[in-house]
Amino acid sequence: MQGFRLDAGRQTLVLAARPGEMAQVVYWGLTLPAGEDLETLAGAAVRDVTGGMIDALPPLTLCPEAARSFPGQSGLCVRGADGAPIYPRLVFSHADEAPGQLALHHVDARLGLRYTARFAVVPGTDILTAEAEIAADTDLRLDWLCAPAVPAPEGGTDRLHVAGRWIGEFRIEHTPWSAGSLLRESRLGRTDHSHFPALLLPGAGATNTRGTVHALHYGWAGGHRMIAEELPDGRRQVQFGHAAGTEHGLARRFATAPLYLTVSDNGLNGVGRAFQRYLHDHHIPWVDAAAPRKVHYNCWEAIYFDHDLPTLKDIASRAAALGAERFVLDDGWFGRRDDDTSSLGDWTVDARKYPDGLGPLIDHVRGLGLSFGIWFEPEMVNRNSDLARAQPDWILGPDDQIEGRQQRVLDMANAQVQEHLHDRIAKVLTDHPVDYIKWDHNRVLPMPDAAQTRGTYALLDRLRAAFPAVEIETCASGGGRIDFGILGRTQRVWLSDSNDALERLRIQHDAALFLPASITGSHVGPRHCHTSGRRIGMAMRAWVAAQRQMGFEMDPRELTEAEAAVLQRVTAWWKANRDWRMAADILRLDSPDPAVTAELQLARDGGRFVVFAGQNASSAQITPRPLPLAGLDPASRYEVRLLNADEATGLSRGAPALKQAALTLSGAYLMQQGLTLPWRFPETMWVVEGRRLTDARSET
Ligand code: DGJ
Repeated sequence: MQGFRLDAGRQTLVLAARPGEMAQVVYWGLTLPAGEDLETLAGAAVRDVTGGMIDALPPLTLCPEAARSFPGQSGLCVRGADGAPIYPRLVFSHADEAPGQLALHHVDARLGLRYTARFAVVPGTDILTAEAEIAADTDLRLDWLCAPAVPAPEGGTDRLHVAGRWIGEFRIEHTPWSAGSLLRESRLGRTDHSHFPALLLPGAGATNTRGTVHALHYGWAGGHRMIAEELPDGRRQVQFGHAAGTEHGLARRFATAPLYLTVSDNGLNGVGRAFQRYLHDHHIPWVDAAAPRKVHYNCWEAIYFDHDLPTLKDIASRAAALGAERFVLDDGWFGRRDDDTSSLGDWTVDARKYPDGLGPLIDHVRGLGLSFGIWFEPEMVNRNSDLARAQPDWILGPDDQIEGRQQRVLDMANAQVQEHLHDRIAKVLTDHPVDYIKWDHNRVLPMPDAAQTRGTYALLDRLRAAFPAVEIETCASGGGRIDFGILGRTQRVWLSDSNDALERLRIQHDAALFLPASITGSHVGPRHCHTSGRRIGMAMRAWVAAQRQMGFEMDPRELTEAEAAVLQRVTAWWKANRDWRMAADILRLDSPDPAVTAELQLARDGGRFVVFAGQNASSAQITPRPLPLAGLDPASRYEVRLLNADEATGLSRGAPALKQAALTLSGAYLMQQGLTLPWRFPETMWVVEGRRLTDARSET
């Protein structure tokens, strides 16, 4: 037997390869001591055999095989060029090892197949990646290939996976483990609102702040399949891969996307911290990592398709006065795009709306000190467009397909399509000083196809190489395309089309299990929310946007003086704190009141923090329950200050100390007892700043 070990931050992965078998993960969990004997460990994990079983337990290998009596889902479903199924029996052949990297090679000599599992530690993180590849001497048709299968811990009772919908992204579902499979699959050709590709496996009693949690994320923007299965023998396995059947052609090599693994010993927050830091520090291809994140103004909800130069200039001037630093011209600037029935594909400036081109608007915006960004939806086409009339054969899917928003999808696997889109987008970026693209994708594919995603990746990569100073936002009717695959090519997510602060509060809270503040766009929407009909006060709207990368999307002409003043004040606070906050850890608090959604953003050096406590509804009890904090040093003392005490209403009639003045309290008290905040209306937010006191003098 050969044993292999990888350590990434707080986790250890141990693999074993026995003669005549595929390799398998024999341990995935919190870090083991350095001297652990891998052979003994692998032997120690072998389970008993009893009645009602065959004479050995078929191993849960990296790619469980049907031809070895494996009692659960196979990791590979493959056919020959003639369509006949193939049942491989792969055996370990050799390993390539380098510090923090491991490749385990396998062969099935009879079938001329080679399988490789690759693992890598991302240095300085709590993240391990795992990928699989199958190669053959002859053409294959692939139905399913999982990234290396991992055994799931058997202690926990729950599987947390991510569902959602348009304007309701990142909804965490709890499905108890039980016999059989939980299968989640995005069949729509993009990551999709309903299918963020992740699984969280809390150990017994785990919460946001406590307990062991194992977590997996599959980094692929084309739609994934996840299987979390409990076998009759009690073992549990997790498989992730591209959605099944999305490789349409014959090929001699297929590969999965990376699977990202982490293990936390401090609850879900350890998972969130690992993923947030990994994205922020290692994965996002920042244009300039040191540059401050900008306050955006996006004109979509202000004007929709109704572009008029004087109006846009006025809006830009007002946005600048509020504190915006980048103006993003959304849908409606190209072709003859007066509504969503036409012009997708015709990426030339609409001369009716912009007789002198975009220059006058951009000059005005830049004259105000803002940079300029612009919207594209590259993969899409309306049938009512010059492009569709000229190139009907570039459109994906049958002619009688169901349309989505009157639009169809271009075949991104076609090199001519990529070339055309590259040239059109490049021309806009070359002709104008644009530093930002909002890259939208508003409908699902007529049928899922991995080649489409590879085509999109190729176009993005080519444009990024040609225009390295241009930042790109991934948007798909809000959060329909968010995953680590697309985030290797983009720098911001449009998390949701919901600018309803109340709903955003929840969506942001759950998305923080994966996404850092620095990439999570969040805008102050109109007073009268366009997607929910709610009317939410400016302070709540502004604070919710200020939790992440802040922006505005309302028509600034609707603002009262008082609203503008609140927004200016919150924006100024955001700017004053963005340097540490955009790299901070977002820690979800274990709120004792379900009507309070709360998080603490902790500076990397632990020296300061801010708590956002959002009252999402009226509480069941009369007075606010103390809110325990997290992530602090129990022995340190912190000065805590209610930043927006002025937002207290007359119905807060008592005298909680925090309403009056800053307090100095120990980390132990703040984490065990917590903050006693004043009473407030639903749909409002308390914001508390904290600083660790470093010497006796500063405590006086
Ligand atoms: C959907 C996006 O999510 C919106 O923000 C906006 O860009 C529209 N598309 C434009 O059509």
